[in-house]
Amino acid sequence: MESNLHIPESVAIIMDGNGRWAKKRGLPRTMGHKQGCTAIEKLLPEASDLGIRYLTVYAFSTENWKRSKDEVDGLMQLFRFYAGRLLKAATEKNVRIRMIGDRRRFQPDIIESINRLEEETKNNTGLTFVVAANYGGRDEIRRAVMRYAEDYKAGRVSADAFAGPDAKVPEGELTEEGFAAYLDTAEIPDPDLVIRTSGELRLSNFLIWEAAYSEIVVTDVLWPDFDKDELLACIAEFNKRSRRFGGV
Ligand code: FPP
Repeated sequence: MESNLHIPESVAIIMDGNGRWAKKRGLPRTMGHKQGCTAIEKLLPEASDLGIRYLTVYAFSTENWKRSKDEVDGLMQLFRFYAGRLLKAATEKNVRIRMIGDRRRFQPDIIESINRLEEETKNNTGLTFVVAANYGGRDEIRRAVMRYAEDYKAGRVSADAFAGPDAKVPEGELTEEGFAAYLDTAEIPDPDLVIRTSGELRLSNFLIWEAAYSEIVVTDVLWPDFDKDELLACIAEFNKRSRRFGGV
């Protein structure tokens, strides 16, 4: 199947269903998240071999702090544990790691390992693995507006951010591209395909600016059961869609 498929450049995944996966087995929710991490670990090299250039995963949302202390602590412990393994896997596969979201809310040791993951993989030229952590689309836009306002006040906004005579917005106004440069995802191409596991038909505050024209594929598979074959099935579904970007 693989050889006939057009592989999208940028894929983003809402990894849902860890809790249900655990519940079905009578296990604590954290075991579902642990198995979810194993699924990411397996998928990363496979996505890279398929030729995907950007893979973004929704690991922790700005709303996830509302979960029980046990569950939040469990997820933080998983971040700590997997940071080291991720660095090793990224180095082996020439993967560059980026984190989107507001990292300031994490414990200092987690912030440090996020910074280290980015720093030590920044010159890798293979797949870019983007982890959304303490990420919310509205919060990302809010922070972008704050950064833009600060730059504007200080006279630091690049002239390129404003429309010239041939632009689709009135001359002199901030362009969409000019604004997008202030988002966490600056320099990461918008997702061609957004996959959501475990059946729900929502974006849940994920990449709400960037996914404006993305194809959305929802599968009933729970995230811990998601594997390369499921990814290929989602890509096959993506291949059936015709993307018009608002044209005809
Ligand atoms: C949704 O399942 C999943 C999450 C809120 C967390 C996903 C996080 C991981 C797989 C860990 C990522 C870790 C690293 C290091 C990248 P859910 O709990 O909402 O499931 P449910 O809807 O069945 O309850």
